Amino acid sequence: MNRRPRRNRKSEVIRDMVAETEVSAKNLIFPLFILDGTEKNIEISSMPGIFRKSPDEVYREIELCMELGLKSFALFPVVEESLKDPFAKVSYDKSFFYLKAIREIKQKFPESVIMTDVAMDPYSSHGHDGVYKNGKILNDETLPILGHMALAQAEAGADIIGPSDMMDGRVGFLRQALDENGYSDVSIMAYTAKYASSFYGPFREALDSAPKFGNKKTYQMDFRNQKEALVEAELDIAEGADMIMVKPALAYLDVISQLKNTFSVPIAAYNVSGEYAMVKASSAKGWIDEELAVLEMLTAIRRAGASQILTYFAKQFLL
Ligand code: PBG
Repeated sequence: MNRRPRRNRKSEVIRDMVAETEVSAKNLIFPLFILDGTEKNIEISSMPGIFRKSPDEVYREIELCMELGLKSFALFPVVEESLKDPFAKVSYDKSFFYLKAIREIKQKFPESVIMTDVAMDPYSSHGHDGVYKNGKILNDETLPILGHMALAQAEAGADIIGPSDMMDGRVGFLRQALDENGYSDVSIMAYTAKYASSFYGPFREALDSAPKFGNKKTYQMDFRNQKEALVEAELDIAEGADMIMVKPALAYLDVISQLKNTFSVPIAAYNVSGEYAMVKASSAKGWIDEELAVLEMLTAIRRAGASQILTYFAKQFLL
């Protein structure tokens, strides 16, 4: 035998020497759930270890993470039911606690990177990502609302805007709105290949944002499709997306890889709430080694081609 692949695996030092993939703090974005009030720290039952925190607690959490080298955060607001309406108006109300918290975070931690979510669902009384009328989610009528939302977030200091709504044309619409209002430095990470997935369940519990009727299949992607992700990516890049995302991550590694091999912009992946919950639940039963499983999963997502990973494991991975 001339070729013995096992020689490259014979010791830890050699394995490390030839390793193709690494996961570091620099690649990770930590999603945080923020709710109004003070000294609130409410664990999400389907996501052990992840909390809905009031702004003061979020500042403390960010400070801790920054010390670990974890400096990028995706911030999601928990909106009181009484503030929700069919048009998500509170999302761009200047006195809304979420916008105030973003401003405060950027003042306290100027070197942090704050990513915000643009979609109507946490704010809308019906729980859908767009304007609802006669059984339909209207595309073009939704765009101006997303525009107001993105501008309010940019004004508060968001570094990256993350449209997660899956309306057609929204990236271009937001890019133009941002540029016309002096926010040409604000980045867009598009939720490009966002599939209609059962893995978002725990997130919807965290935000009380589940759709009150129907499902999201007329705007989020069909999980039977891979090529359709290429169409979405072409559009988002042409419309000005700086980075494009695949979501969820683990059941969609082929899509990450396909986009990585086809396009030159950085590819992000969202290791979503249901993926987190599965690991936590089986680890609680003693059925898998959690630490090893997390390392393997995050490495696999990087190996598939993701530059950045949004993951609820970000902090614990670095502890
Ligand atoms: C909002 C949004 C969702 C997630 C991120 N942004 C939920 C959804 O589209 O229903 C899910 C994230 C997760 O499950 O961790 N549009």
